[in-house]
Amino acid sequence: MIYSDEVGNMEAMNMSGQLCVGLACSPRKDGNTDILLKRSVKTLRDLDVDAEIIYLADLKYSPCRACEGCHATGRCIVKDDAGPVFEKILRAEIIILAAPVFSMGLCAQAKMFIDRAQQFWAARYILGRPVVEDVRLRQARRGMFISCAGTDLPGVFDGPARVARYFFKIMDIRLAGTFCYSGVDKKGTILTRAGAMDEIADFSAKLAASPSQKSS
Ligand SMILES: Cc1cc2nc3c(=O)[nH]c(=O)nc-3n(C[C@H](O)[C@H](O)[C@H](O)COP(=O)(O)O)c2cc1C
Repeated sequence: MIYSDEVGNMEAMNMSGQLCVGLACSPRKDGNTDILLKRSVKTLRDLDVDAEIIYLADLKYSPCRACEGCHATGRCIVKDDAGPVFEKILRAEIIILAAPVFSMGLCAQAKMFIDRAQQFWAARYILGRPVVEDVRLRQARRGMFISCAGTDLPGVFDGPARVARYFFKIMDIRLAGTFCYSGVDKKGTILTRAGAMDEIADFSAKLAASPSQKSS
């Protein structure tokens, strides 16, 4: 299942100096979503994008406490490893969310992190502030969602893709592409899925070159 919106023409875009944050959400390192994310990041680095992968499973962060502490400032009052990751995301032009389907939803590492983005919901909708002040950066921000599921159940990506769309929206990042592969279960199976690696590489190159565009 692939959805991608118009990433624009690839002309005359200076790709160097762009930052990319890739969120590897699966606890399984070198697993299917990690493999796809690494392919994307390699493509971006080859195009001079400064791309980093962050493994959420290596970090210590708590779920949102619903304390509403962020309502006053637009920032989370919980100080843990999630904070510096959000700071990096705020500075990045390109954000990739790579998360597998666990129990018909996003894996817990991803969902816990996304719930911590509630601070940006508060910034936007309670305080009326943009997530990113810099207009040029705000308009340039774009991203991709990558997922894998072990089964071929109809609708297996419906919930996860919806949460991913919410995450990109709340972070004020244009979700330019969604790449979901079903029937991919064992570690590394994605490597045998015809076309998947090339698809990710091709789209990543377009993403790197995508000109600024107003995000919704
Ligand atoms: C705890 C757990 C729950 C899972 N739940 C589902 C599920 O509900 N539906 C499904 O299709 N696959 C499910 N899977 C399979 C994974 O989506 C599949 O193995 C995927 O390729 C994992 O990606 P990764 O290698 O990047 O971790 C589950 C796997 C685990 C470990």
